[in-house]
Amino acid sequence: MRVLLTGSEGYLGTVMAEVLAEGGHDVVGLDSGYFIGATLGPEPERPPLIRRDLRDVSAEDLTGFDAICHLAALSNDPLGDLAPEVTYDINHAASTRLARLARDAGVRRFLYASTCSVYGASGTDEALDESAPLAPVTPYAESKVRVEADLHDLADDDFEPVSLRNATAFGFSPRLRADIVLNDLVASAVLDGEVVVRSDGTPWRPLVHARDIAEAFLSCLEAPREAVHDQAFNVGMDSENRRIADIAEVVAEAVPGVAVRITGEFGGDPRSYRVDFGRISRAVPTFKPTWSTLDGARELADAYRRFGLTRPMLRERFTRLARLRRLQEEGRLAEDLRWR
Ligand SMILES: NC(=O)c1ccc[n+]([C@@H]2O[C@H](COP(=O)([O-])OP(=O)(O)OC[C@H]3O[C@@H](n4cnc5c(N)ncnc54)[C@H](O)[C@@H]3O)[C@@H](O)[C@H]2O)c1
Repeated sequence: MRVLLTGSEGYLGTVMAEVLAEGGHDVVGLDSGYFIGATLGPEPERPPLIRRDLRDVSAEDLTGFDAICHLAALSNDPLGDLAPEVTYDINHAASTRLARLARDAGVRRFLYASTCSVYGASGTDEALDESAPLAPVTPYAESKVRVEADLHDLADDDFEPVSLRNATAFGFSPRLRADIVLNDLVASAVLDGEVVVRSDGTPWRPLVHARDIAEAFLSCLEAPREAVHDQAFNVGMDSENRRIADIAEVVAEAVPGVAVRITGEFGGDPRSYRVDFGRISRAVPTFKPTWSTLDGARELADAYRRFGLTRPMLRERFTRLARLRRLQEEGRLAEDLRWR
């Protein structure tokens, strides 16, 4: 298939570009390029790129594609708080506009990167399936809920939207993100010899490797219409539903000799959700996630050491919020996150 991959220059996008190409698909990327150059290790091989802000995509950009994997977004809860109205513009309005243009251009399948953050402050320890109530607690998560609803309205005989509610990702990508829990805790272990959890460590946070997310997209891209049309799928593994304190213990196992410190302070993040990942494996049996948190923590520790990760790199290159703020302070990005 000819596939347009938005967000192709990001943490998940660089990994997904490789997985889709390995699957035999012809991939073209689309990205505004906020994180180009913010790389750990060698530059990744990249597909041809349409360098474009999602808000400016035109119908011509979309002609000739069989499918779109839509990842471009301000990509996490704290980022959404940077400028909620910009988050809604990019993550909601521009995403729904992209889907509408895609449908009009005859693009059949539209795979949307949603998130398990839609379950937000779930208030339960029960594992939530896709029919559970949504309880988003940030503009980021709310924007994902709105796009899922819009995609449902757009679904028809010729347009097959699928929402993949990804668990929190982990694992190596050349466009590393250090602002996601496992990647962050492994960095503290390697750089400080200590794993510090700045909360009481009790919230549930299901985890999934970046490569397994890419494999889920590949499987949904190739699945028959009746298996995926107008569906939402939680993407992850039941075994990797973990409390944050437990994630810290896994990191200590992967990086021997480090101590775990749970500060017990109030973290200000009410999100806690345990998730049931059964539906995707029943509907799309070709999807078989393989990466445990422990394997991912070992992979990350090895990559951090091999490529010489330092604290300043972590802050300046690999923390999404800090990098966008710095681009704004330098006058390169406007308030609305358009390039000047
Ligand atoms: N990483 C996770 O833990 C996780 C979990 C669940 C869902 N997701 C979703 O997966 C997607 C990718 O996440 P990621 O971790 O790779 O994030 P990322 O920040 O590394 O990548 C996002 C990419 O989108 C691009 N982008 C942002 N705004 C854009 C715009 N206006 N126009 C064009 N391009 C734009 C950025 O330049 C970047 O390359 C996001 O939609 C995110 O919400 C991620």
